[in-house]
Amino acid sequence: MKESLILISYIVSAILFIVGIKKLGKVDTARQGNFLSAVGMLIAIVATLFMMDAIPFEWVVGGIVLGAIIGAVTAIKVAMTAMPEMVAIFNGFGGGASALVASAEFFKIYGKNADNADTTTLIIIMLSVIIGSLTFTGSFIAWGKLQGKISGQPITYPGQNIINGLILIVMFVVGYFAVTNMGGFLADTAEINMRWFYIVISIGLLLGILSVIPIGGADMPVVISLLNSYSGIAAAMTGFVLQNHALIVSGALVGASGLFLTNIMCKGMNRSLGNVLFSAFGKVDESAGPAQTATGVTVKEMSAENAAYTMQAAGSVIVVPGYGMAVAQAQHEVRKLADELEKEGVEVKFAVHPVAGRMPGHMNVLLAEANVPYEKLFDMDEINGEFQSTDVALIIGANDVVNPASRHDTNSPIYGMPILNVDYAKTTFVLKRSMNPGFAGIDNELFGYDNNYMVFGDAKATVSKFVETLKEG
Ligand code: TAP
Repeated sequence: MKESLILISYIVSAILFIVGIKKLGKVDTARQGNFLSAVGMLIAIVATLFMMDAIPFEWVVGGIVLGAIIGAVTAIKVAMTAMPEMVAIFNGFGGGASALVASAEFFKIYGKNADNADTTTLIIIMLSVIIGSLTFTGSFIAWGKLQGKISGQPITYPGQNIINGLILIVMFVVGYFAVTNMGGFLADTAEINMRWFYIVISIGLLLGILSVIPIGGADMPVVISLLNSYSGIAAAMTGFVLQNHALIVSGALVGASGLFLTNIMCKGMNRSLGNVLFSAFGKVDESAGPAQTATGVTVKEMSAENAAYTMQAAGSVIVVPGYGMAVAQAQHEVRKLADELEKEGVEVKFAVHPVAGRMPGHMNVLLAEANVPYEKLFDMDEINGEFQSTDVALIIGANDVVNPASRHDTNSPIYGMPILNVDYAKTTFVLKRSMNPGFAGIDNELFGYDNNYMVFGDAKATVSKFVETLKEG
């Protein structure tokens, strides 16, 4: 009876995870999806607690309270712009937890009768430990790079990929020893098995560091999404070891969705995963002298007031948000601007590039937070055909995602990246603080186009000025 109830609970939680993740795919159902998944997790945890009898109750309650406090405080305190860092840390903990649980199972087997240990279980344990430990340190390096605790520059040295490849091979060979020794045919003493095991964990931890340091800080969202997928795979493997169905299903879902997300991001940047992981994108060539921060492009400036009047007189405005809107936290002002323009009879739409900002769905989340209606948000493919017939494209803190060089400049690092065709609009306004480049570290030729005007300043202050001007006028 108890077993059946637990199994039913696991099936219910698996269904909630699947429905939840489906709903997370759409902005308007995302909150509901998050809630359903959380309920599924609660059911799975409660069912698991009923199954366990070895751990004292106080430890379980203590763990839940501590975890809930840490989770709640971080969720409330963390800034929207720091969300990728938080996800990185949580991934790291997920990978670390899987490695620890798998290690505990290894010790359990070792403590019992190692000679009769099932090789398949040992292989799965070993894979879980390897992927989990690698995810743990890799995620902390990703966190450090995003937080600026470690240099965001790719840290490279000659032969790096070959060395990492060799370390990977060594790790699998040592893992093989640890597994096969359990069968007792390679070493005399079981103690040697444990030594192999510790070496595997150490190499896993080292490889996590070595594989993430050569990647530029700006590529961290892609790495984090990949590590998220790894943490799911490690959890699913631990689920196989423990024969826990809820863990297998949830781990597989995280593993698969992380991979999908990684793929979406790579496509949005028109780069392969190999290029993200191994090309040290964004590395500054020190021999080339100081980094270029100002462009050679001559630009025209417009005051916020005049830009506001131009928009007031326009028939249609497409707002293009980017990372700068997130930095400035300008989303609420942007919503007010859209309301004011609509009062004036201007049609307002929002164009969202898939990799605008620094994490998937970054712009959607911010605009949803400011209650911009979902039906006003358009994906790149949906809206790109409309710029030609639009009066004003208002670019708020976006840069790379509107750089026309990606269409024709074969030497540009963003060549081939699909962009929002803002330059086809009658007029473009770019809101940013300076002529500094964006994420890709390159000049934006749009800024020098005849139909473009720069409105310099913090995005929030500039948009507030627009709103003020429209209200007055
Ligand atoms: P970026 O190209 O990074 O440009 C952001 C611009 O915002 C900068 O030019 C900056 O100029 C401006 N800015 C910063 N703070 C501002 C403020 N307070 N007020 C006004 N402007 C401000 O952003 P994007 O166009 O959104 O492109 C995203 C980039 O990130 C792409 O290259 C993409 O490939 C990359 N990326 C994205 C993701 C995901 S999943 N979204 C993942 C990895 C990489 P100033 O400093 O002059 O103000």
